[in-house]
Amino acid sequence: MSAITMSIEDFVKQLDELAQSATVAFAAAQDPAQLDEARVEFLGAKNGQLKSVQKNMGAVPGPNRKEAGLKLNAVKNSIQTAFESAQARLLGDTGSEARDPTFDATLPGTHFHVGRLHPITQTINELKDIMGRLGFTPAEGPEIEDDYHNFEALNIPRAHPARDPLENFYLSVAQSQAEHDATFSENPLLLRSQTSTVQIRVMEKTQPPVRIVSLGRVYRPDTADWSHYPMFHQIEGLMVDEHVTLADLKTVLKLFASNYLGDAVPVRIRPSFFPFTEPSVEADYFWDGKWVEFGGAGIVDPNVLRSVGYDPEKVSGFAFGLGIERLCMIRHQITDIRYLFTNDVRFLHQF
Ligand code: DAH
Repeated sequence: MSAITMSIEDFVKQLDELAQSATVAFAAAQDPAQLDEARVEFLGAKNGQLKSVQKNMGAVPGPNRKEAGLKLNAVKNSIQTAFESAQARLLGDTGSEARDPTFDATLPGTHFHVGRLHPITQTINELKDIMGRLGFTPAEGPEIEDDYHNFEALNIPRAHPARDPLENFYLSVAQSQAEHDATFSENPLLLRSQTSTVQIRVMEKTQPPVRIVSLGRVYRPDTADWSHYPMFHQIEGLMVDEHVTLADLKTVLKLFASNYLGDAVPVRIRPSFFPFTEPSVEADYFWDGKWVEFGGAGIVDPNVLRSVGYDPEKVSGFAFGLGIERLCMIRHQITDIRYLFTNDVRFLHQF
């Protein structure tokens, strides 16, 4: 039974004696079993000696309570430390049979697996690097875009199939054509379907000359197969200055392909159509004995330049947009785009 009152001096004395005997007991333990016995005796949560001394704290007069508490904590810590050092002594003693039986020092260690950059990230870094050497600065734009930047400012007319709700991830779903038309007039949000948006974002904020690349995710509700995935990456290039021509475009694409694939790679351009370029081309490079499609490109349409306040009489530009997965897959001979996004570390580990 605890006394009704106990002087602070007595309380401190009890604690000091306790610390003393606990330290002696721990030091005397010859094996983990003995140490554990001592631990229960002194530190046991139910009937440990420390616990019973602690109960006396309530009997220490109020004004001394704080001091008592501090002392109690100090002693608790020193007993704990004494226990831990005894434990280290017994477990670290490799000559003793009393070691932790679950630990076998002769087993090989556990390998620490260092992560690595995803192959797409590696490709992005490399492409950025190549374009950087050609004087193109990286630029970014939001992945949640509005209709204006994804279509309107890029000269993509209202009725263009690329704006179809079924071809895009709009963030609000219209229940009817009428509702759809109404939402359209409000500049609805969508996950961007192309990085061409960044052309607009950059030109809105800067005056020519412009020379940027933008690499990032785009989204289209395609069913996944070996060459399609509803999320993929594009690299977009834009150069606007006085007298920029298709010859500049072709040179940049050729240097780009040759740098990436590591050889003098022939590039050809074929006529095509994109609303935001005039003329528009499809670019191919010659690789592995055949022409491989690269992506779209062209001379920036005057309407696009006007939409950002540039004067098409004074400046011209080229733009291109290429799929990053395709470049990465060609380089690494990856045969199915889905491998890239299944996150199987056995696959990813190889790059
Ligand atoms: N944005 C087009 C697409 O996603 C690719 C593209 C074509 C980008 C022509 C361009 C361009 O900058 O000039 O299919």
